[in-house]
Amino acid sequence: MANHRPVIIGGSNSVTLAKRVARAAHGEFIALKVSRFPDGETLVRISKKLQGRAVVIVNSTYPNANDALMEVALAVDAAKRGGALSVTAVLPYLAYMRQDTVFNPGEPLSASVMARVLNDADRVIAVDPHLHRIRRLSDVFKARAESTTANAVLAEYIRSHYRTAVVVGPDAESFQWARTIADRIGLKATILRKTRFSARRVVVRLAGAVVVKGHDVVIVDDMVSTGHTVAEAAKLAKRLGARKVHCVCVHGLFLGDAVRLLKRAGIRDIVSTNTVPGPFARIDVSSLIAEAVYQ
Ligand code: R5P
Repeated sequence: MANHRPVIIGGSNSVTLAKRVARAAHGEFIALKVSRFPDGETLVRISKKLQGRAVVIVNSTYPNANDALMEVALAVDAAKRGGALSVTAVLPYLAYMRQDTVFNPGEPLSASVMARVLNDADRVIAVDPHLHRIRRLSDVFKARAESTTANAVLAEYIRSHYRTAVVVGPDAESFQWARTIADRIGLKATILRKTRFSARRVVVRLAGAVVVKGHDVVIVDDMVSTGHTVAEAAKLAKRLGARKVHCVCVHGLFLGDAVRLLKRAGIRDIVSTNTVPGPFARIDVSSLIAEAVYQ
């Protein structure tokens, strides 16, 4: 008898999340076997018969973006050769999306190269990919590619923890998240204008009209990487008279001393989703991934 339960395969960055997705999707979880050759090449193995099964491979591309992408590409190939009915690659955090244009002469369009690595999948799903100059994933992927958003779970977290706060988007790119989330739960949102001089030098100023003085503030961003954007936003909010300042983001990379930077800037709570695992990953996205898989 045909088995209609999807096989959910967890890559090395997303074993825990993939188990949760399997539960939410009523699927069967297995961990991808990943090993390295002495020269650093990756080998993957799927220890299950996949003939006629729908297969979903879940792997975030942080840490080790390049290895993680290769792992997914190899797993897609292995699943297809194993006779899978369909192969969906889920990248809860999808790297290379900020390199969405040729910034300087002689540089590649990295987002499109990343897409080519994954194009053998029948379908690609990412949670809140950094869509800025590229408006839709389908603009870079040949495979069917869709994004799903953590807005609903972020909004619910903010509503239940910071119900009177002002939501701040620290730059034009993040304001799409801040505004949508604030609107969902009836909070005010304002935007800052960011100038980035380098990875670690960021200046922000107020661009929106909403008053933060005397209010708690929640800074919402799609990702926290070095932490400089959110730290500068927090310092500005404090200078403008905000009371407590918190940070809620989708992808919490928190590179290097990012957490210390955020704390020094006066941020009380730091919260992210579990697209990237870590101590601040308190908002679960497994159900929304399961829903996206079934759409
Ligand atoms: C930028 O466009 C994104 O929305 C984030 O604001 C940015 O990637 C955060 O980077 P960092 O934490 O290094 O300032």
